Amino acid sequence: MCGIVGYFGQKNPKDVIVAGLKRLEYRGYDSAGVAILDGPLGDQHIKVVRAQGKLAELSKKLETESFSGRLGIGHTRWATHGVPSERNAHPHTVDGLSLVHNGIIENYQDIKKELASEGATFNSDTDSELVAHLLSRAVRETKDLFKAVENVLPLLRGAYAIVAMWEKQPDVLVAFKNGPPLVIGLGEKEVIVASDVQAIISYTNKVVYIDDHEIALVKGTDLKVFTTAGHLVKKETQTINWSADQVEKAGFKHFMLKEIHEQPRAVASAMAPHINLETKSVELKDLGLTTEQLKKIDRIFIVACGTSYYAAVAGKYVIEKLAHIPVETDIASEFRYRGPVIPPNTLVVTISQSGETADTLAALRLAKKLGALTLSICNVRASSIDREANGRIYMNSGPEIGVASTKAFVSTLAVLNLFGMFLGSLRGRLSAQDQSAAVENMLALPAQMESVLAYDKFFGEAAMKLKDYRGVLFMGRGVSYPIALEGALKLKELAYMHAEGYAAGEMKHGPLALIDDRMLILMVCPSDEHYEKSLSNLEEARARGGKIMSIGTGDNAALKAVSDDYLSLPDASWMVNPILAALPVQLLAYHVAEALGHDVDQPRNLAKSVTVE
Ligand code: G6P
Repeated sequence: MCGIVGYFGQKNPKDVIVAGLKRLEYRGYDSAGVAILDGPLGDQHIKVVRAQGKLAELSKKLETESFSGRLGIGHTRWATHGVPSERNAHPHTVDGLSLVHNGIIENYQDIKKELASEGATFNSDTDSELVAHLLSRAVRETKDLFKAVENVLPLLRGAYAIVAMWEKQPDVLVAFKNGPPLVIGLGEKEVIVASDVQAIISYTNKVVYIDDHEIALVKGTDLKVFTTAGHLVKKETQTINWSADQVEKAGFKHFMLKEIHEQPRAVASAMAPHINLETKSVELKDLGLTTEQLKKIDRIFIVACGTSYYAAVAGKYVIEKLAHIPVETDIASEFRYRGPVIPPNTLVVTISQSGETADTLAALRLAKKLGALTLSICNVRASSIDREANGRIYMNSGPEIGVASTKAFVSTLAVLNLFGMFLGSLRGRLSAQDQSAAVENMLALPAQMESVLAYDKFFGEAAMKLKDYRGVLFMGRGVSYPIALEGALKLKELAYMHAEGYAAGEMKHGPLALIDDRMLILMVCPSDEHYEKSLSNLEEARARGGKIMSIGTGDNAALKAVSDDYLSLPDASWMVNPILAALPVQLLAYHVAEALGHDVDQPRNLAKSVTVE
């Protein structure tokens, strides 16, 4: 996702910012830019240099540029609103005010209308530029960037991390956030603001993490942090001492935790090749199957093992709903031996992170032998399953080291959503308008995921309660059901705790007998069409003395009332909810396992790539 670096100090801001952006390359991006002060003291102006493509393109342009100022900001952009291009690249500048933004401003259309009615003209298609307009308008009145931010903040809705500078205050950076991360490094004679500690670590190991609804004011090398209500916050300065091993893990204690935090980027990478940002439609490029072949399909099987199988179950809900094609899901080891009946015009989709799982590969070979058209969804390119299937879509998650799959799972969910949308539109079941709304929802997803991950500490605290139970019943309805299955699997794999995933409607058919105060019910219960029914299930469990942890949407008073613990997700569409809900279930399992002292990256008896039966 977008990377942010801001700098004030003795060094050449251009060098520090570009080096910092380089460190953030792993987040993924499609354009980059800097805004740095230049000119004689007392008459400094912001000079902006931006380029589409890789950082090398920006560096080339910067070779001939010099800047005399000490203050600057930089950004690597992952396109959400507006195609990847130089004009949409950050920083966005309006009348000497420049900013960089990571996230999504949800009410950007209302803001744009208001600004347009005042005669504003726009130089990009981004939501971020609108914030630059608002700040520029405010700073004309307040004559102070910090005060301008205070005035503008109540106008913004959404997830954002923003760093702004104004040429009339050549030693001031103001940074504020709601969701995506921001951290500030305090060096000897310099301050670095970044979206990630990686951009800071080679300059200083003293850092301050900014929390949601805080505004950081950097004035020279002094840092003050305020609440949005204007109260000074006493922030703790943390010392980062990374070992070589931690550098490899980007400062995270385990690969799995790193991979969980990489998920917004993984999902964005999975979607990027397939979304046309101009038409807001899905174009499955390089699928290897023709439109004619896909139009003929009237049945789909999705076959996989482990976590990939639970992604398949989610895919069934999505494809059936969007494309109206019957979908069967199968565990590969069952499929290959049960003598499956494959009618003509059947597509068999095999899902495998590694692309080498023996049962899934055998299922693919069998499907081909039985005359099915096949499609693989793999992470590892040129793996056996990838090579042997007729068509392919990549998870594009980047290497996954932790044995228990995380980022490949959410990438697969994203890819299956796009596949469902593609088939839906191909078969005339999904209108262009509905497709474009669904694409908008998917584009907002990585920023929403970042805002969920920002609550990692909170999930860690909830996990401490979970570890004392005898077992956990994960439940969900509709597309939350596979998340319940995955949550239970994660807890088994990592914490070695007994857990089961259940369709919540099945509660009366057995699980109710298990309920006592040592069995936790974890209900995945976002505000969707199934919400009321899941709530009733929880009330029944509550009436029988059940202990409840629920995952819901926003600040849901009814769910809170029936639950001992409540974990909240941002408001999202039904298709996006499972991807958001996957994050807390992964983090709960991770933290329980960590607290129990287990080897999180290599759980006992398990392997990453199961190439034997
Ligand atoms: C192993 C791994 C799981 C994974 C499963 C399927 O059991 O431990 O994390 O979900 O294999 O792997 P695949 O590579 O086919 O997705």
